Amino acid sequence: MTDHSAPDTGEKRPALIPTTPAGIARAGELLRAGRLVAFPTETVYGLGADATDDRAVAAIFAAKGRPQFNPLIAHVPDLATAQSWGRFDDRAFELAQQFWPGPLTMVLPRPANSALSLLVSAGLDSIAIRVPGHPIAQAILRAAGTPIAAPSANRSGAVSPTTPQHVLESLGDRVDAIVTGGKCPVGLESTVIDLTGPEAVLLRPGAVLPDEMERLIGPIRLSAGDPTAPKSPGQLESHYAPSAAVRLNATSAEADEAFLTFGPDRFVFGGTTRLNLSLEGDLNEAAANLFAHLRQLDHSGATRIAVMPIPEVGLGLAINDRLRRAAAPRG
Ligand code: TXA
Ligand code: MG
Repeated sequence: MTDHSAPDTGEKRPALIPTTPAGIARAGELLRAGRLVAFPTETVYGLGADATDDRAVAAIFAAKGRPQFNPLIAHVPDLATAQSWGRFDDRAFELAQQFWPGPLTMVLPRPANSALSLLVSAGLDSIAIRVPGHPIAQAILRAAGTPIAAPSANRSGAVSPTTPQHVLESLGDRVDAIVTGGKCPVGLESTVIDLTGPEAVLLRPGAVLPDEMERLIGPIRLSAGDPTAPKSPGQLESHYAPSAAVRLNATSAEADEAFLTFGPDRFVFGGTTRLNLSLEGDLNEAAANLFAHLRQLDHSGATRIAVMPIPEVGLGLAINDRLRRAAAPRG
């Protein structure tokens, strides 16, 4: 199985990159080439990848060892760039003017036909965007010239890293490079506010406080205080589910079914449309294709989608988690 997160460059991994102009340029090059680069922000170190590159984004999940696909934050250098990736209403614009660059992430409607990987949004119709204030993060984003998806640069379930040493300890050679920018000044992940609906909702508290935002945009619902509120967006009902019914562990497709396959196509195909997640059986490639393929089959007109078994290892855990949600009975 090929491992996209660990291309053999003959270099020692991870490369430790200094915050010199040459280092910044190198980080930008690596990101553009689809590599994983950890870099400092004012909050915590991010594990960055080109947000328009499905394979690079899938490699983030592989490196973190995440058992499910949580949506990621797209990082851009300024508000003007952010406006081409998210739909800003007056509230979003006010907050951006006041708090960007800085430790605030806004979840906004995702424009139709966005070039951002669907995996960044975990299949949702929204996108989380942040303009970080850290000068090194700013310089790297400008050097990369593409939006950068970046969760905190730690293994899943571990605490967020605030020094390059933390990143090295947590991710080691699972990351291609670490930009060694010293300690993060805030040390706590950004505030996340959801502005996709009429009511603003605080999804994660952080250094930008609700009071400060309420002064500009009015009342914000604090979802953290509501014990019935979902803990992660993966549990939200609005989480993208195909309108076609999904049947798992299928070894063939019925006449009225679209077929989502994995590995060599050795099964007799009787269905409508067939898409392969990865002919080579590469889980990274399968993760990169998952949301786009599900959407395409859903839009093919099939009323049911049959899905071949996916191995329950590595990124297969996250893929199967997502497929089980898609196959779960609808309310
Ligand atoms: O400070 C930070 O935000 C750091 C630095 C690197 O920028 N990044 C970070 O990323 O903390 P991460 O992936 O560890 O946390 C992102 C949070 C998660 O709670 C995720 O569920 C939420 O943002 N999120 C991202 N996209 C979302 C979306 N479309 N809808 C709802 N929540 C979203
Ligand atoms: Mg995190």
